[in-house]
Amino acid sequence: MSYFAYRNETLHVEGVPLDRVAASFGTPCYIYSRAALEDTYRAYEHALAGRDHLICYAVKANSNVAVLNLLARLGSGFDIVSGGELARVLAAGGDPGKIVFSGVGKTESEMRSALAARILCFNVESSSELARLNRVAGEVGATASISMRVNPDVDAQTHPYIATGLKENKFGIPFDDALQLYRDAARMPNVRVAGIGCHIGSQLTSTAPFITAVQKLLGMVDRLAAEGIGIEHVDMGGGLGIRYRDESPPPVAEYIRALTRPLGDRRLKIMFEPGRSLVGNTGILLSRVEYLKHSGDRNFAVIDAAMNDLIRPALYNAWHEVKPVAYRRTPVRRYEVVGPVCETADFLAHERDLNVVEGDLVAIMSAGAYGMTMSSNYNARPRACEILVDGARVHVARRRERIDDLYAHEARLPDAARTRRA
Ligand code: LLP
Repeated sequence: MSYFAYRNETLHVEGVPLDRVAASFGTPCYIYSRAALEDTYRAYEHALAGRDHLICYAVKANSNVAVLNLLARLGSGFDIVSGGELARVLAAGGDPGKIVFSGVGKTESEMRSALAARILCFNVESSSELARLNRVAGEVGATASISMRVNPDVDAQTHPYIATGLKENKFGIPFDDALQLYRDAARMPNVRVAGIGCHIGSQLTSTAPFITAVQKLLGMVDRLAAEGIGIEHVDMGGGLGIRYRDESPPPVAEYIRALTRPLGDRRLKIMFEPGRSLVGNTGILLSRVEYLKHSGDRNFAVIDAAMNDLIRPALYNAWHEVKPVAYRRTPVRRYEVVGPVCETADFLAHERDLNVVEGDLVAIMSAGAYGMTMSSNYNARPRACEILVDGARVHVARRRERIDDLYAHEARLPDAARTRRA
């Protein structure tokens, strides 16, 4: 089923025409489809049925409380990377017993919050972090379950900014150091060895690098078992790609099959941390064409969304499809689709054949992952609102920021006061 389709020559999300969303809530505006999200999550569950497993949605991809809440209701766990994400998951009704905590820089206070919430597991990324976690857990009288995030040194064959599994990357524990670190952990009083994991990169379009990684991890599981260190779960991280343009990533079922097969008859729970593959194609960014202009031999469509709303094109040269909301029969023109921000990198799309006039709406597709979560207020632009569509209904998942929200936490010097000494 297509959740984003033309009906009566107008682009819809489920049963809702996008011109109506724009009229009610303005632009730019992120719009998510509940049905798309739930169907995608269920594809994971279905593929893992009959196996001991846990899906821990990578919150960084889209951390709107409404999105997290829908996933929590479906039984999802969560992969967090900060105290802020922990608070979001708890506010959304997520089960702390299904939270794993990843990231190379966990602070003491983040560890304390996560221990107080009784999360499932810390994905440890260095020996210093392990030592700190053992100490902090001891101080609060808790035992921290841990999984080492090892760096399997495999080439994920993706954009270098989102490849994480090579030994020159900052992520994970070097594969050759992991064995000794497990031995150390097994002797620490306040940590409990629970698992092993990796995350090799994002937007992968083939299963081969994942298979290499899982085989390396399983080799380590067997070596640990031989030393009497039992591993309960293997966490394969996230990384499955989606189709933005013409990529053909494996379907969820095939990806899961490829990664569970190597487990053989080992009694291991398998965990995944999908982000993009769960939410990427469940959301769009709706924007309005402010101006059409011509300069040199180029046509520019200046829209009201910009790099501060969706930074992926500027940061990774990422390709997102741009669709006009109203279907027109007039001839197309080739456009640079750009925003109002004062940077040459402020583009949403290059060289697109579009059929638009000033005032038209356009939908930037596949914007459900790493869209809103990477947005900023650059150029003092209030952040977009987020709308969740559910059949014919719309739910404001986040109201549009107001201009005075922008400086609500700032203070100017009182006129009469002297500057305080530090
Ligand atoms: N687990 C860990 C430890 C991660 O670091 C990530 C993503 C995930 C899971 C989820 O990966 P996914 O399934 O979404 O590929 N901003 C970039 C993507 C950065 C991914 C960072 N880590 C983009 O817009 O393409």
